[in-house]
Amino acid sequence: MRALGLFILLPGLGFAPTPRFLEAGECAMCHTRIPKPGAGWDRDTGFIGPFHLWRNSMMAHAAVDPYWKAKVAFEVARRPAAKAEIEDHCLRCHAPAQQYPLRLAGRRLAVARLDSLGRDGVTCTVCHQITPAHLGKADSFSGRFVVGDRGEIYGPHAGPFRMPMEHHTGLTPAEGRHVLDAALCGTCHTVLTHPAGDDRAFVEQGPFLEWLASEYPGQGRTCQSCHLPLLRDAQGNLAAQFIAHRPPGGPFPPTGERSPFGLHRFAGANVRALAWLAEIENEPDLREAAGHTHEHLKRAARLEVTPRRTPDALVLDVRVLNLTGHKLPTAYPSRRIWLRVRVHDWQGRILFESGRWDPGSGALESGEATQPHYAVIDRAGQVQVFESIYGDGAGEETASLLDAVTYLKDNRIPPAGFRPARLAEMGLGPLAIGTVGVPAHGAFRAGEATTHYRIPWSGGSSPVRVEVDLLYQSIKPGHRPPGFAAPASAMQPVVMASARLDG
Ligand code: HEC
Ligand code: HEC
Ligand code: HEC
Ligand code: HEC
Ligand code: HEC
Repeated sequence: MRALGLFILLPGLGFAPTPRFLEAGECAMCHTRIPKPGAGWDRDTGFIGPFHLWRNSMMAHAAVDPYWKAKVAFEVARRPAAKAEIEDHCLRCHAPAQQYPLRLAGRRLAVARLDSLGRDGVTCTVCHQITPAHLGKADSFSGRFVVGDRGEIYGPHAGPFRMPMEHHTGLTPAEGRHVLDAALCGTCHTVLTHPAGDDRAFVEQGPFLEWLASEYPGQGRTCQSCHLPLLRDAQGNLAAQFIAHRPPGGPFPPTGERSPFGLHRFAGANVRALAWLAEIENEPDLREAAGHTHEHLKRAARLEVTPRRTPDALVLDVRVLNLTGHKLPTAYPSRRIWLRVRVHDWQGRILFESGRWDPGSGALESGEATQPHYAVIDRAGQVQVFESIYGDGAGEETASLLDAVTYLKDNRIPPAGFRPARLAEMGLGPLAIGTVGVPAHGAFRAGEATTHYRIPWSGGSSPVRVEVDLLYQSIKPGHRPPGFAAPASAMQPVVMASARLDG
């Protein structure tokens, strides 16, 4: 078998060598129609196979995502002479299966030349061929993962039954436990730039670094634990299932059920983008994925409201606990979350409101000028917005990834146990991931932030109703590129958590 494999791979004999990357559709044959445990193989009862779930994720759309395309065009329009370089840079993580081989050959990829493999985005054969080389080290960041050239597809299980997959794809399933390492995700989920051209890096996106500086690594809770949750039974115990099926359906006879079994949903926060893609592709499964993502987003935070009355004020302590493994919000800088606080009288009249937005544009009605971080809010025009804001070389606010050199504001809520100095202790150099623009006070710390609302009040003890919502927005108006034709729905926030109090 091995000799035959070598023979086929020899160049110049009329056989093309197996390409390093294959489209996900090639894997679907045996890795999609996997039923939930206990359900029959012959009926569609909601498949849980990797292809089925991955196909409806943002990573599968990384190179066709309309907001991503608009942002690439925005960056290019600012520096037309650098078009080729910029596009190739963006495609490194957004279309890795097509960009990587060109990179090795010293060539560049342009957006206009994306083929079906590039449009597969972060596809199966990227994640599953990343080798352990440099993982977790600074030289693996910014999409500098190393893909093996042995045609091995790594997975967490020992002794995979190799023959059918080798026969159909030319690739060999092999045990490689490093697929469970958070650092594998950290290769692309650490986006660094070098504005000064030297070693000093600016952290544009740092979920992996934020996670490293939190208490989660010590607890063994990785990116995979939350974003590729393991299959469980109704009692919450780990469940087992076959990981591959024969093309017509049903398991390959020599294989058995495997556990753990990871659900390739990759749900994050982008409810609106998935719903928009569902419209574009007219795909109900994407709508379902948007629903799953909303459920996931609702698990990101806990909201606690403690009310109190004084003779002249209604006082609310609004506490937000970050339950994620990184900052809340994290990653792409167009994200923000904010608090909407409303107080009604017993007739439903609004006495106070902070955080209302315009349903057409998604803009805050108090205006889009940057809100500082507030310890105390006592006027309706003040809104607590948790976000990061990039500054350019002149100290002005910018939405450009290429102009950003610093943070003007970063009051994203840190994860539990957050201690940025951990990075330097691990030898990861001077990577700044700390908070910016938050006056030192105990109400903002690792894992949580409390905002104190002091609402002027002359109504004595008459009853009021308090409504507090925590809202998440994917694209804040300042990050909307000129001419970007998004439906109004894509700009709308989604509710992460709510609290209602009467009294
Ligand atoms: C973003 C990276 C990533 C992508 C993309 C990805 N996988 Fe995975 N895959 C993983 C990780 C991590 C695991 C380990 C999950 C676990 O068991 O905890 C895994 C596990 C598996 C397994 C073993 C079953 C299991 O859950 O242990 C199979 C089979 C598999 N993937 C196939 C695929 C196929 C087919 C695709 C494309 C349709 C794909 N994967 C896309 C990261 C990825
Ligand atoms: C080192 C890897 C990497 C590079 C290089 C990269 N990105 Fe990304 N990009 C990511 C990751 C990871 C995310 C997901 C973060 C999130 O969802 O918050 C992302 C998300 C985005 C989004 C948000 C998409 C949405 O639907 O909300 C946009 C827009 C974007 N990138 C634009 C760009 C542009 C423009 C470039 C080139 C200048 C670029 N990216 C280069 C890794 C990268
Ligand atoms: C013709 C069927 C078939 C095709 C096509 C196929 N696989 Fe597999 N795959 C299998 C079988 C069978 C196993 C082993 C199952 C076992 O031993 O439990 C497997 C195992 C795996 C594993 C787990 C490896 C481990 O040790 O944990 C991964 C990951 C994987 N395949 C990814 C892929 C990817 C990516 C593609 C597309 C390039 C693909 N497969 C195409 C049949 C197939
Ligand atoms: C090859 C680069 C690459 C690797 C490796 C990678 N990602 Fe991603 N990931 C991306 C890009 C690019 C996006 C943004 C897609 C978009 O929105 O256009 C993204 C988006 C995401 C999102 C955001 C989804 C949302 O709804 O906002 C999650 C969650 C995610 N990845 C998890 C993971 C996990 C977990 C791993 C490791 C198992 C991983 N990624 C490995 C490139 C990568
Ligand atoms: C304890 C669970 C947990 C862990 C661990 C975790 N995440 Fe998340 N992640 C979440 C939740 C919940 C959300 C949705 C809320 C949000 O956006 O932060 C999320 C959101 C995201 C997003 C989308 C952010 C956005 O708004 O666009 C990305 C990208 C992401 N995670 C990547 C990672 C990576 C990479 C790791 C590992 C280094 C990781 N996550 C570890 C729970 C977790």
